[in-house]
Amino acid sequence: EKGGFASFMDKEIHDQPQAVTDTLLGRTDIAGHLVLDDLRIDESVLRSVDKIVVIACGTAAYAGHVAKYAIEHWCRIPVEVELAHEFRYRDPVVNERTLVVAISQSGETMDTLMAVRHAREQGAKVLAICNTHGSTIPRESDAVLYTHAGPEIAVASTKAFLAQITATYVLGLYLAQLRGNLFPDEITEIFDQLRAMPDKIQIVLDRSDEVRKTAQDMVDTTSVLFLGRHVGFPVALEGALKLKELAYIHAEGFAAGELKHGPIALIEEGQAAFVIVPSPRGRHSLHSKVISNIQEIRARGARTLVIAEDGDDAVAPFADVVFSVPRCPTLLAPLLTVVPLQIFACELATVRGLDVDQPRNLAKSVTVE
Ligand code: BG6
Repeated sequence: EKGGFASFMDKEIHDQPQAVTDTLLGRTDIAGHLVLDDLRIDESVLRSVDKIVVIACGTAAYAGHVAKYAIEHWCRIPVEVELAHEFRYRDPVVNERTLVVAISQSGETMDTLMAVRHAREQGAKVLAICNTHGSTIPRESDAVLYTHAGPEIAVASTKAFLAQITATYVLGLYLAQLRGNLFPDEITEIFDQLRAMPDKIQIVLDRSDEVRKTAQDMVDTTSVLFLGRHVGFPVALEGALKLKELAYIHAEGFAAGELKHGPIALIEEGQAAFVIVPSPRGRHSLHSKVISNIQEIRARGARTLVIAEDGDDAVAPFADVVFSVPRCPTLLAPLLTVVPLQIFACELATVRGLDVDQPRNLAKSVTVE
């Protein structure tokens, strides 16, 4: 049931605080150590893993892109992310020391299933991150980490995406604990910050009026660009995908650093561009780099729709609209910054009179090649 919402998608966007809460539930023991009961892969095998390869399709693959930033940072294990249908037709270099992570909401996506088989044939251990109990991909994997987003009805994925990202954070912290990459105190601190995310997602949802109004004003838009760096890059890709899937509008996500290498040629008067701005408190100088990117496109006429952290005063002079999200650690920010983009796509499709739950030409789970 839609629970009073106009669409399943709208409901599922609002289910996201709960989806993240439930995915984090029961992951620690009394002493605060992470325990992953459903993980049947031997600890000694996990300790000797020297590479992680994430395989997935669509939105699930973007969850894998976010995971790469977090797991490499916390665990110092190289992480590759590959579309399952590309992986299965290559000669990927995987072996007994490779942990393949297959991410799938449905657990039935044929391309991902075939990639799982391809990986296991070569001796890799496969861990499924899946939302559907007893589905094929977890059954054929060595282990499973279930997301607990609840049934997702709308074809375009929202709450499953946040739950997938959350599950990869749990996996990363667990591996860091097992392999001693982080001090126990650091793991506890990050896990506590993770547990604080559902309330922050709720704050983003409570602020959705301005996003909706922006979408309503853009009913005739024919193209929207999405720019981000670091973990904001996969968020940009996902924002673009949501808009294509739901509103049938040309949309492209870019790494903001790539702008000057090509995409900036697309910028002309009135071109709408979402920009995901990293926290000004983060490491590196990413924040100022993204501010420069905003200036560059604005100087060429772009209409800048900026997602930034609360209190980030530096963005205001260059933004046509600012959507603020609460403060949080940089690596966890995708759980917040993607939400306005989901709402934007859902609202724009709705004002265009489209069926947001059942977009044309798409299926919830693609069980053919
Ligand atoms: C697509 C769905 O066909 O499959 C997307 O329309 C989804 O929403 C993708 O992200 C992958 O599906 P799954 O079930 O493997 O996560």
